[in-house]
Parts: sequence; C-alpha cells; structure tokens
Amino acid sequence: MQNIKIAPSILASNFADLGNEIKAVDSAGADYIHIDVMDGHFVPNITMGPAIVKAIRPLSKKVFDVHLMIAPADPYLQAFAEAGADILTIHPEAGPHLHRSLQVIKDLGVKAGVALNPATPVEMVEEVLPNLDLVLVMTVNPGFGGQKFIESQLEKIRVLREKIDKIGKPIDLQVDGGINEQTAQKVKQAGADVLVAGTAIFSKDSSQYASIIKDLRA
Ligand code: DX5
Ligand code: ZN
Repeated sequence: MQNIKIAPSILASNFADLGNEIKAVDSAGADYIHIDVMDGHFVPNITMGPAIVKAIRPLSKKVFDVHLMIAPADPYLQAFAEAGADILTIHPEAGPHLHRSLQVIKDLGVKAGVALNPATPVEMVEEVLPNLDLVLVMTVNPGFGGQKFIESQLEKIRVLREKIDKIGKPIDLQVDGGINEQTAQKVKQAGADVLVAGTAIFSKDSSQYASIIKDLRA
C-alpha cells in the first residue's frame, strides 16, 4: 500500500479564524495544506490570492499545496511562488502552452502539478507527465467545497497510477473533491496517494481533526 498523504483544503475552514485553523490541522497531522485559489472566471467562485498565502505562510512548515483555478494562471505564478507556495497546480485549460507554464513554475523553484477536471481526459496531461511532481484528479467540478464525489473518475485514477508507475519517479497522484471516509477507500484502492479533504475535516470540531485525518489515511 502507498504512503498516503492528507491535504486539508482550507476552503472549508472558518475564515474568521484562519490562522488557528491552519495551526490546528498542522498539529493534527496534515501533510499538505491545500489552498484553493479561484478567480470567478475559470470557476464560478472567488476565494483567496497571494496575500493570503503570504500571511499564513509563517503559521505552518507543512507543504503549501496551491491549487490554481484561475485563467490565465501565468501572470500570477511568480506572486504565488514568492508568497510561499511549495506546489503550484494549474489546469491545462488555463492557458495555451501548458509545457511553458510548467517550465515557469519549475524555474521559480516550486513543484509543478496539473489538475484534470472530470471532463478533461488523461491525454491532456500525458505529454508532460514526466515533468510533473503532482497530478490532480478532480472528483467534483472545481469551484465549491461540499459537492458529491463523481465515481467515474476512479478509472482515471487507475489509468494515471499505471502511467506514473511506468515513469518510475515520484509523482503525487492527488484526488480532490467529495473525499470522506467512504470515498477515501475507493480512491486509495484506485491508486491515489494524496487525498484533499475540505468538508470532511473542517465541518467537524477542531478537537476531531486528528482522528479524521487518521481515518482518511488508514
Ligand atoms: C473544489 C476544490 C476542493 C474543495 C474540496 O473546487 O478544489 O479542494 O475544497 O472540498 P470538499 O472536500 O468539501 O469536496
Ligand atoms: Zn482544490
């Protein structure tokens, strides 16, 4: 079995107490802090920008996993890198030259990820897979927390697991959307090794964060 990492999505946290929410999931055993950036254009919701990433950076040494649901993404890559992102994940639909955007991310000294929407086929990432540190399979349509897991994406996870294993270098296979104790088992069986979870963690009292993270990982 893979070494499973858990990435709480702060989108579902209490924004009025964001600093303490981050500290709470950090000490509860989160591996990554998943930060959902939305622009009201690529997705129908607006969330946070580089200033927020910079403000929360001193609160945790965990990997800052920044999921950019913005188009274009290129003009903002440097700002997010400078704000303290460790991973920048972009969607292939966000610009005309995915390979170039990924080169820019790597040149900024940051790990590079590509996210596939439910309707986006594996082929969209295949050519650049060896250049990546992370592939994200969206198991909901991006834009909101608390949506229902889309089962058809399990096959995409399986296909990507095989392709990553063939490449033979460590590439995170991340899953994002509708992850709870039930769906976590399915995505892990399909080969995912980084599980993003927003509602499943932050809808509970902070005293329960550690046990939920442990259950999602198990
Ligand atoms: C959706 C975001 C997710 C979201 C997941 O667009 O990319 O990271 O926060 O939330 P849950 O876990 O509630 O589905
Ligand atoms: Zn996300």
